[in-house]
Amino acid sequence: MSEDIEKTISELHIYEKKLLKELEANPDATPEVIAENTGMDIKSVMSAAGSLASKDIIEMQKDVEEVYSLTDAGREYAEKGLPERRILDVLAKKDHIGMKDLANETGVDKKETNIAIGWLRRKNWAQIDKGVVNITDLGKGFASKMDIDEETLDYLKANADGVKLFTDDLMNGVKKLAGRKNILNVKRETSHSFTILPKGEEILKHGFEIKEQATQLTHEHLKDGEWKSLEYRPYDINAEAPVVFAGKKHPLRVIIDEIREIFLNMGFSEDNGEYVESAFWNFDSLFQPQDHAAREMQDTFYLKNPLTCDLPDMDLVKLTAETHETGADTGSIGWQYDWSEDIARQSVLRTHTTGISTKHLFEHEPPIKMFSVGRVFRRETFDYKHLPEFHQVEGLVCGEGISYQNLLGTLKEFYKKLGFEVRFRPAYFPYTYLSTESEIYLEEKESWIELGGAGMFRPEVLKPLGINQPALAFGMGIERLAMIRYDVEDIRMLYKSDLKWLRELPIDQGVRL
Ligand code: DAH
Repeated sequence: MSEDIEKTISELHIYEKKLLKELEANPDATPEVIAENTGMDIKSVMSAAGSLASKDIIEMQKDVEEVYSLTDAGREYAEKGLPERRILDVLAKKDHIGMKDLANETGVDKKETNIAIGWLRRKNWAQIDKGVVNITDLGKGFASKMDIDEETLDYLKANADGVKLFTDDLMNGVKKLAGRKNILNVKRETSHSFTILPKGEEILKHGFEIKEQATQLTHEHLKDGEWKSLEYRPYDINAEAPVVFAGKKHPLRVIIDEIREIFLNMGFSEDNGEYVESAFWNFDSLFQPQDHAAREMQDTFYLKNPLTCDLPDMDLVKLTAETHETGADTGSIGWQYDWSEDIARQSVLRTHTTGISTKHLFEHEPPIKMFSVGRVFRRETFDYKHLPEFHQVEGLVCGEGISYQNLLGTLKEFYKKLGFEVRFRPAYFPYTYLSTESEIYLEEKESWIELGGAGMFRPEVLKPLGINQPALAFGMGIERLAMIRYDVEDIRMLYKSDLKWLRELPIDQGVRL
């Protein structure tokens, strides 16, 4: 214990020591008095006090007091009398005055006679009957006696520097005066007082020397040799310090980079695609029929400019058309409708990243391991779990002997690297067979949540692209993942730039490989 105390003492700043000593001699000292007696300035007193308080050596009390004083208008009332008083003075001599003569007879400004009448009635000093103001008995009594608000007014006038404490009576007067506009000024004054805590008592009992100490070793100290005789104050490494919010990546960016890192480590290369894409690549190349619900205007953003996109290689377009219409040589009968080139030409904001995969397959030879990350767009109304703009990640593996087992294995590995346990559920997508949806396990919620779709691209997708080897593909939303990782209930949080939230998030946790 005493070792602790010695350590605490050795870490005290000279100002802290001075303050403590002063408080010992003068327990009721205010910061101002302490400043005066120790020769410190107020700022140093306050910061030394804050530091002592943070170490439980003293306690700091903050008292806020209201200081009342008169406004210019208030002072005028105090000199001339409240308007109802000025009328009462005349009534005391005349008993009654006609309303229309009020200003003339009493000298009270016309604008104020209404206010005065109000108070005369409220105080029951006069009654008004058929346009005549008549003094009451109570009014007669008050003709030679001050009301409490008038006494308060006088008191405030006599104490022009402001008054903090009132007797109960005068406080009632204050309340009455506060009912009128623009008479009182109220200022809040903060004052501090200190109490020595047991730890402080112990330090004082132990005793200490007040000696100048150096806090820094300077160039001059070294040059003139002064360092040899100086006493250095040890650092208190537990002292409270201001919280610093370092600049850092946005949480979504952290996750995207993490996913990128995982794919690169698994031997995938990256492709990006464009935000504006033809319906051909976004839908047709994925064997999505042209009357598919996802293509409807209410689900997809169609662009005016450019209104249409160029179609790719005409052989590919023809084969795609045939596959949609009859299945061509894929072994299926297709969707059995007339495929339209115009519909395929429409330009859309891509609704998923899967179109990047088909385009990539068309432009590359297997074996292929490709991933893409990027924004996608859907006509969603904003709510806590939907945004019209969000991010998806997509993976593609194509090559000899690639199987559904490889797909499940790849997904397992991918999610494991992200830190999740995964399970699979059968699903349907127009472009894959077999298809599955991945669910990850949330320990805190003790439940499984769906995170993405996956499957083996169908021959109806692969054949027109000129791909004769099996391909697995999977996609998922990134915001969902971010919501889980950062425990966010409302997806909009990720885009709100809520500085408090962003600041308090831990810095990039890095990839969990
Ligand atoms: N494109 C799907 C979506 O936006 C996700 C998806 C499902 C991607 C199956 C795939 C897949 O690659 O095979 O919800």
